[in-house]
Amino acid sequence: MKFFIDTANLEEIKKANELGILAGVTTNPSLVAKENVSFHDRLREITSIVSGSVSAEVISTDAKGMIEEGEELAKIAPNITIKVPMTPEGLKAVKVFSEKGIKTNVTLVFTANQALLAARAGATYVSPFLGRLDDIGHNGFELISTIADIFNIHGIDTEIIAASIRHPLHVTEAALRGAHIATVPYKVLMQLFNHPLTDQGIEKFLADWNRQKQQ
Ligand code: E4P
Repeated sequence: MKFFIDTANLEEIKKANELGILAGVTTNPSLVAKENVSFHDRLREITSIVSGSVSAEVISTDAKGMIEEGEELAKIAPNITIKVPMTPEGLKAVKVFSEKGIKTNVTLVFTANQALLAARAGATYVSPFLGRLDDIGHNGFELISTIADIFNIHGIDTEIIAASIRHPLHVTEAALRGAHIATVPYKVLMQLFNHPLTDQGIEKFLADWNRQKQQ
């Protein structure tokens, strides 16, 4: 499973990219709104840092509007992926993008049937939302497993992005259940590095080393 970062914050993207494990970025209108910057300018900045897929979401709700918006966004850089909501209009747009060779990420996926429809429309990625399913007491992990099984059975090459990740356990389970990618907020990405025994181990190794050096 690969790692994307789920943010529009440039500092977070730079720091995550320096770690050497970043395969892409996802943004959404809420994340961009928090930044108080021009959307297109921010996408230019992000794509100058990250060479992997950078998801940029359309705001229109009709296919024609989504296609116009997506075509403009796709001109920003070759690694822009157009993020489209899981609606009938959204999938019409996905079909057009896929015929034009423009990559797509179908977002707000909450059922396996939605994922299958998106894949058949030609989606490059589907994004099932784990945290938002948790919020209503549903099982997001089962959803990832089911989508992964269906894609395997039918030889579908659409990649599954585990999204709406809220804590490290979401990441482990997403990997175990067959997600190809987890898109992770910066805070959770950094939590993945941590274990108290790692910190204690480093402290002890350094203390032993320094004691030995003094002899
Ligand atoms: C994914 O692409 C979305 O941007 C994101 O993961 C949504 O997460 P949230 O449910 O924490 O807002």
